[in-house]
Amino acid sequence: MNKENPVVCTCNDITQSEIEAAIRDKNLKTIEEVGDATTAGTVCGGCVDEIYLLLEKINGKVDL
Ligand code: FES
Repeated sequence: MNKENPVVCTCNDITQSEIEAAIRDKNLKTIEEVGDATTAGTVCGGCVDEIYLLLEKINGKVDL
């Protein structure tokens, strides 16, 4: 585990950089799309708020 690249989704062990790369590379817009692409957020849902913030950071907004 690394400070710069924390695990966002502990259920599926998905890191922040994996989620950010998926959002950028696949042009993801919604939390659901991030879940489909990375599996992050698909188990307990506890990381969904963080995924939301990453989407907002990269896209400037989040489609729901
Ligand atoms: S921490 Fe991501 S689904 Fe549980």
